[in-house]
Amino acid sequence: MYAAFRSIGAYVPSKILTNEDLSKMVDTSDEWITKRTGIKERHIAADGEFTSDMGAKAATIAIERSGIDKDEIDLVVCATISPDYFCMPSTATIIASKLGLKDTTAFDISAACTGFVYALSVAKAFIESGMKKNVLIVGAEKLSAITDYSDRGTCILFGDGAGAAIISATHDKNEAIVDIHTGSDGSYADLLMSPNGGSGSIHDTLEGDKCFMQMKGNETFKVAVKTLTNDVVDILKNNDIKASDIKHFIPHQANYRIIKAVGDALGLQDEQVVLTVHKYGNTSGASIPMAINDIYESGRLQAGELMLLDAFGGGLTWGSTILPFSPNK
Ligand code: ACO
Repeated sequence: MYAAFRSIGAYVPSKILTNEDLSKMVDTSDEWITKRTGIKERHIAADGEFTSDMGAKAATIAIERSGIDKDEIDLVVCATISPDYFCMPSTATIIASKLGLKDTTAFDISAACTGFVYALSVAKAFIESGMKKNVLIVGAEKLSAITDYSDRGTCILFGDGAGAAIISATHDKNEAIVDIHTGSDGSYADLLMSPNGGSGSIHDTLEGDKCFMQMKGNETFKVAVKTLTNDVVDILKNNDIKASDIKHFIPHQANYRIIKAVGDALGLQDEQVVLTVHKYGNTSGASIPMAINDIYESGRLQAGELMLLDAFGGGLTWGSTILPFSPNK
């Protein structure tokens, strides 16, 4: 049994936060943000709009496009670092409930910006082992809820949104996810973390109720470029696939400079590289499925085309995968 990437969907909240808006909130400028990150604007969820609401909307579209009935879904995995509730219940269970799914295995994955690649690896493993047949994976983030809008080092980067995909069992090897590699190194944990609110909190829990992200941006940047480049070079080599065979390189959308450095190291042409960072910013676990949805909705993604995904995030975590787009025929 193999795992096939059947469909994609996404949801983007309507409110837009521009670089100009941010320059009125902190000491920054459109010029600095554009030059250092490539970001022009990001979308922000409405008050009372939760990660699960966005995830359920993206999932509804992905299910509709997959051609399967929602009751055939036997596993829901949600990748998020901005869950509706930090301890429980999981956002995946809330999404499952909002979709009207009953008796479905559902859990969250915490791998920051690598979450969607981790979720794909979990879906692949469950399907290949024969335990599940149709897996809904969701990357959903309300990062505005954990962003400190007085910290110019982080608040310019992050946005909200969600993406979702259906991964289904197939006997056809041509439809199958080719390979996935995931990794982590917790010794770099302090580069990017939300230090408050958990059992390891440096403050008491009352003070630590705001789990704002803190990041050593420049150090993270350097590790990201090196790790991502090595990871994508290795996965291509291990599968005897040339960079020129990849139709769509869809990296985590953290920073245009990181994407460019990795793309250049692989010798990719501009038309192979999918970019959404300018309009969505960094939406962590949601960024890759939102980018896949972008090329799907613009008609750029066709059945059978090979995608290379790669991601890097807090943990530190990283991962990459090579897979064809395999909609139901
Ligand atoms: N506006 C204006 N100036 C700023 C801003 C800002 N928003 N932020 C920082 N600066 C200043 C700094 O204070 C510094 O000033 P100094 O030279 O006087 O000390 C100068 O700009 C340079 O700062 P750096 O941090 O070195 O800038 P850099 O070029 O590294 O860009 C950035 C910062 C955009 C954060 C970059 O380092 C980056 O993208 N890092 C990686 C992010 C990432 O990939 N994270 C992982 C995924 S996220 C996740 O997992 C949730």
